[in-house]
Amino acid sequence: MKSEREQKLIEQAYAEVEKYETLVNRDRYRLRYHLMPPVGLMNDPNGLIDWNGTYHVFYQWMPFRTGHGAKFWGHYTSPDLVHWQAAPIALAPSEWYDKDGCYSGSAISCDGKLVLFYTGNVKDEQGNRQTYQCMAVSEDGIHFTKKGVVITLPDGYTAHFRDPKVWRYQGHWYMILGAQSESGDGKAVLFRSADLCHWEHLGPIAGGNMNGLGPFGYMWECPDLFPLDGQDVLIVCPQGLKPDGMRYQNVYQSGYFVGRFDYERAEFLHGAFEELDRGFEFYAPQTMLDRNGRRILIGWMGVPDQNEDRQPTVSHRWVHALTLPRELRLTGGKLRQTPVEELKQLRKQKVAYPSATVVNELRSWPGLEGDAIELRLDNIELFGSMMEIYFRHAARLVYNSDEGVLTLERKSFVNGLTEKRQCRLPRLRSLHVFLDTSSIELFVNDGEETFTARFFPHLDDRTILFGTHGHLHMDIEKWEL
Ligand code: FRU
Repeated sequence: MKSEREQKLIEQAYAEVEKYETLVNRDRYRLRYHLMPPVGLMNDPNGLIDWNGTYHVFYQWMPFRTGHGAKFWGHYTSPDLVHWQAAPIALAPSEWYDKDGCYSGSAISCDGKLVLFYTGNVKDEQGNRQTYQCMAVSEDGIHFTKKGVVITLPDGYTAHFRDPKVWRYQGHWYMILGAQSESGDGKAVLFRSADLCHWEHLGPIAGGNMNGLGPFGYMWECPDLFPLDGQDVLIVCPQGLKPDGMRYQNVYQSGYFVGRFDYERAEFLHGAFEELDRGFEFYAPQTMLDRNGRRILIGWMGVPDQNEDRQPTVSHRWVHALTLPRELRLTGGKLRQTPVEELKQLRKQKVAYPSATVVNELRSWPGLEGDAIELRLDNIELFGSMMEIYFRHAARLVYNSDEGVLTLERKSFVNGLTEKRQCRLPRLRSLHVFLDTSSIELFVNDGEETFTARFFPHLDDRTILFGTHGHLHMDIEKWEL
């Protein structure tokens, strides 16, 4: 049951969807096969869960404008991670403990119910922040009843304390939160519970000088801790890292530590921080374990405070989207991301050019163009110093084999100048590209590296061009999606 106030907010949000439906859907930059908000701003994926045979993805949503504010939880469901359906709004910021936003959180299954944990964001008249960790419960996975506050702010932290991710391990529930300590360090903080209502504060497990990390950002958002391939992985989004060579080029980062989590001592021994994605827009990912035992990640195709108001879709009253679902594996101490198998269902009209060759030129082949396509380049062999691919004259991927550097360039939507993101890559073997009308997701060497970005090409330009200084051989496959 929803309170009258929550019901009213939900009606206002639906009215907004209806009011702008035509404008939003007229936007030719609307994506074809990614999750987007029906109107307004979408940010973090929340509450990812495979529950009773249905995949659920909730998301941070501001229906009333294309900026941030008092967030709702929007909701999509899918039988297969490919075909999604909008479900009724799950949460609206209606109560004293969440009136300025039902902020990010997660979902679990308990006693046949789908239970959500989220952060209630509250600001007083002076703009001072308060934070509450809250619970909401559903019998059917569609209608949610708020149960109120389960955790208040412990000593030693500022009110930047949020984004609960909950899981079960050997008879207990655990919750990890993103936090800022009073001394101004980003941390990941752990709680434990036997009944989901009473939570014991076990303390920080990573961040702010722990584990020899040194100062590492002033706030950590959206933590996620899970076992994978025999080790434990902690994903976090540190805010406040300075650009460092090719690393940390976005306003805020999203990355992970690999290590070993000791439940007895609530201790996480871990290695170095690695960025999850090398592109322009990727943040606040969340993972879930699915029916097949796969660890699946979905991220936000956006970054907070990174010229969000300048994205071209804003004129059509919507902004941002989520990434494709990706399966995670751990190989050689590194996370590998690959698009989930199910996405093959989207494939139509295959075009293939086995043993395609490019020699000191810029060229294409009939049928490779498109604006919503999947492209696979396998067995890449480059005899020469560089290869490049132009996507609709608005994004360009360049591999410099002398330096071992892969670069994604795009035309900035702020000033039209070329901007770039890069990573080191000793060898380029394969590229797997998902283009949508205004996004690109690149999986390099079967997910060793990924680049995720929005880009806004001229709407009638569908060209894909391949170039090299030298000789380039590869097997090309392409599908319309
Ligand atoms: C990350 C974040 C979270 C917060 C949410 C608010 O993008 O700032 O820390 O819960 O977005 O929408």
